[in-house]
Amino acid sequence: MSAHLRRHHPASVSGSRTAEQGRGGSLEPIPANIGREAGRHDRRSPETAKSDKKKRGDDTSDRLSCHKIQESLLSSASGYNNYRGILNWCVVMLVLSNARLFLENLLRYGVLVDPIQVISLFLNDPYSWPAACLVIVSNVFVLVALYTERQLSKSSFSELVGYLVHCINMATILTFPAAVVLLVPSVTPAGGAFVLGVYTILFLKLYSYKDVNMWCRELSTAKAKKLARSLSCPTSQQFNGGNRTVCYPGNLTIRDMFYFVFAPTLCYELNFPRSPKIRMSFLLRRLFEMLFFIQLLVGLTQQWMIPVIQSSMKPLEDMDLSRMFERLLRLAVPNHLLWLVFFYCFFHSSMNFTAELLRFGDRQFYKDWWNSETVTYFWQNWNIPVHKWCLRHFYKPLLRRGFSKIVSQSAVFFLSAFFHEYLVSVPLRMFRLWAFMGMMVQLPLAWFVGRFLRGNYGNAAVWISLIIGQPFAVLMYVHDYYVLHYRQEAD
Ligand SMILES: CC(C)(COP(=O)(O)OP(=O)(O)OC[C@H]1O[C@@H](n2cnc3c(N)ncnc32)[C@H](O)[C@@H]1OP(=O)(O)O)[C@@H](O)C(=O)NCCC(=O)NCCS
Repeated sequence: MSAHLRRHHPASVSGSRTAEQGRGGSLEPIPANIGREAGRHDRRSPETAKSDKKKRGDDTSDRLSCHKIQESLLSSASGYNNYRGILNWCVVMLVLSNARLFLENLLRYGVLVDPIQVISLFLNDPYSWPAACLVIVSNVFVLVALYTERQLSKSSFSELVGYLVHCINMATILTFPAAVVLLVPSVTPAGGAFVLGVYTILFLKLYSYKDVNMWCRELSTAKAKKLARSLSCPTSQQFNGGNRTVCYPGNLTIRDMFYFVFAPTLCYELNFPRSPKIRMSFLLRRLFEMLFFIQLLVGLTQQWMIPVIQSSMKPLEDMDLSRMFERLLRLAVPNHLLWLVFFYCFFHSSMNFTAELLRFGDRQFYKDWWNSETVTYFWQNWNIPVHKWCLRHFYKPLLRRGFSKIVSQSAVFFLSAFFHEYLVSVPLRMFRLWAFMGMMVQLPLAWFVGRFLRGNYGNAAVWISLIIGQPFAVLMYVHDYYVLHYRQEAD
């Protein structure tokens, strides 16, 4: 008798048991003493025998049935959630459709990638390096901040004088490079953006440095009043389980200052968490990623972004709305890809590289912003160093002073909008407020998404705002820059 028949014919059930088990069949194992059991039951009361017989009948029909109540996998009631295969399918489709775009691009424009051309983005004149000089000059501001803090710690400066010196120092950090970028013609837009980025980071760091040292002074004064002695930490350095712990004012050294300047954080701390050692393989992996992704960024910009932007100028000039929208969508894909590559290269590869080199322990540079179901969640999680700085040095101090949550949030977004505009408009030498508005619009957008959209819809809204919002701003700036510089030349 075939295995199939043995499995389904009641008479063959007990006889074929061993063979089924050997083949790994799906039938339940049948007790070997089933015959003896039946004989014993026959000697019992008629009711027990009857119920046992019914049970055996049910067991047999269970063994023979091949259907049960169950939902289809794709209906939500099934509780099924393993979509790994579908995700792979999406990736394959993405690769295939982009391979087609890549081929089309190559056939239409040929190879446009030219890494040497990137140098000309930073240098107008090979004998003049204004951007590099500005970066070197930035050390002066670092030393002024350190000097001021030392004088404050020795009470050579009063709190008011110290505060004024810090304010002048930080105002100069923002205005001096902006003036140089605006007035010196040999500074290119890319060089200017780089320099202003460095100075903005320095501004945020020195602001944090000033605040933390002030908090230390306040704490030590409060403790001194309470305990009638100057500090809880009698010497400026202590050993805590093998680690050297620095106490105020022992932190006011050039070494500590420059460690903070180079560390991948904007928030100062006297004792940063440190990793035990530098892992060479980790360091080399991050370095390789950085080099690879920088090349990829340059290649994608030259081969994909620039041709699309150039082809968008005409529809923008003619105010041809449908073609403008088509170009915007066309730009959205390479722009978004560039942004994702930039995110990985900057927030993962380069920050981890610097942190590993400096044995800086806190590696939380980003959280899972890609799962954002609200705009608020996105801003809390995509750029952790900036978010931490905003909370610690701006948002919470405003809340503590009695400002409402909405006013404080608006103030943070206003500050962020100012810096976004500063970093774009000054290097381009053109003030259009697109970046500023892009940041300010986040507030109503956050309210709308939080109020009306939930779950996957909220997540989709965040992605759409990223994919469409950025290329819109890019197109606006490039168009205005083109009109300002090239149309005037043509006229
Ligand atoms: C504005 C911003 C700081 C708000 O952050 P948020 O996390 O939504 O703020 P919340 O109101 O949830 O509160 C955050 C903290 O303040 C505390 N807080 C809230 N209300 C408070 C009050 N009345 N008093 C004191 N603390 C308060 C919370 O307890 C919380 O503390 P925790 O961080 O220790 O948990 C944030 O959206 C942000 O960083 N935006 C700008 C981001 C940006 O521009 N990034 C640029 C990237 S390029």
